[in-house]
Amino acid sequence: MYKNIIILGAQWGDEGKGKIVDLLTQKAKYVVRYQGGHNAGHTLVVEGKKIILHIIPSGILHKNVIGLLGNGVVISPFGLIDEIKKLEQQGIFVKDKILISEHCFLILPYHVRMDIARERNSGMSSIGTTKRGIGPTYEDKIARRGVRIGDLRNKDNFSVNLKKIIKYYNYQLVNFYKEKPVNYNNILKDVMDVSDILIDMTADIPNILYSAIECNQLIVFEGAQGTLLDIDHGTYPYVTSSNSTSGGASTGSGVGPLNFDYILGVVKAYATRVGFGPFPTEVFNELDNYFCNYGSEFGSTTGRRRRTGWLDMVALKRSIRINSLSSLALTKLDVLDRLKEIKICIAYKNLKNNSITVDTPFSIEGWNEIEPIYETLSGWNESTLGITSLSKLPLLARNYIKRIEEITKLPIDFISTGPDRKDIIKLNNLFNI
Ligand code: GDP
Ligand code: IMO
Ligand code: MG
Repeated sequence: MYKNIIILGAQWGDEGKGKIVDLLTQKAKYVVRYQGGHNAGHTLVVEGKKIILHIIPSGILHKNVIGLLGNGVVISPFGLIDEIKKLEQQGIFVKDKILISEHCFLILPYHVRMDIARERNSGMSSIGTTKRGIGPTYEDKIARRGVRIGDLRNKDNFSVNLKKIIKYYNYQLVNFYKEKPVNYNNILKDVMDVSDILIDMTADIPNILYSAIECNQLIVFEGAQGTLLDIDHGTYPYVTSSNSTSGGASTGSGVGPLNFDYILGVVKAYATRVGFGPFPTEVFNELDNYFCNYGSEFGSTTGRRRRTGWLDMVALKRSIRINSLSSLALTKLDVLDRLKEIKICIAYKNLKNNSITVDTPFSIEGWNEIEPIYETLSGWNESTLGITSLSKLPLLARNYIKRIEEITKLPIDFISTGPDRKDIIKLNNLFNI
């Protein structure tokens, strides 16, 4: 029986991780976010009620589950408090069920301003970020000038440090980006107003997890974003600024690699991407409208329309290796219901030398030189929405699933057939749920 499972996105994010995490945390003690921040948008639908989470881990709806934010997560104090309040307005009380690592770096208003200023001034090379200040906050972390939640304990030191950092940011905002400066006094006051709330939520996350592991308690580690947005392994520079691959679960929570015993990759039955960057299987016009409309492919954080495309097995196989995935959860199968033909990308053709490759390119130039080679399967043309057993799926839908298993050489543990928690086919009784 598995005890510590990582659930992460195997594509470009928005694979439906939130739904799968919610499903698999029913009997968990803890659900842990280990990277990213409120750039994430994880949608849960429970009995028709839609709940969107950004920084709060997705298992939190279950009564006895405690949400942990590990050191790898970056936290906007105002974003966090706002999200807690919004959930309260929906009758969901999570404040006393969230614990945060003292080592989480704070996203402050100057990070957001810098993110926006850069995007505005980068022209054709902008990334299409969520403008939540994620990149600048991780930069500060790596540059060793960032401020962490634990720093709020010493208010005098914090205010001195903050002054220095703001001087540094304002120099760039004003002189390089020709933007207005941020106001030190306002930021200090706003942070001080909420600092006690944050400090009260801190805890020694590695120790909590270590004790839970010793007691054989069930822990779910929830990835944000997706493998191809990973700062090291993604389509750099069109990536986020954290390690969204499985290694991030270890460094971002303080749990050693040998303690993870199952890694579930969440894969959409087609593909989407928000923001700019390589997307070999991208489709346009009618087909793009089809995926967008039937898949409701609009970002849960920024509301942006997602780019859409076919399932890319070359990229997925890379993702399987990098994360050492144990199995897959296939989501949004129902979105394919009305298609006559369904394509899967099985290789890339290099347009420069006409060679065929089954590996992902290393550079942006490389990504721009390839085009997908497809295998075409017949669509099933009937509704799979809400189906909960494999035998009830149309034969052609089962063929599609089987083909994915054949190519990836991995089992599919779960098939999601609709947005609601109950719309799921369970093929593995992982965690006895
Ligand atoms: P995440 O960021 O990976 O958690 O994914 P998002 O929540 O951003 O995007 C997934 C979207 O698809 C959400 O609106 C979900 O409610 C929805 N969704 C998840 N699974 C399914 C499914 O099997 N079918 C359909 N039609 N929608 C789904
Ligand atoms: P979830 O957890 C999809 C994308 C942004 C942009 C790039 C960098 O819901 O799957 P950032 O603001 O992180 O610096 O933006 O990463 N991005 C996501 N795309 N899903 C997400 O999260 C994303 N979080 C960031 O669109 O292309
Ligand atoms: Mg999302």
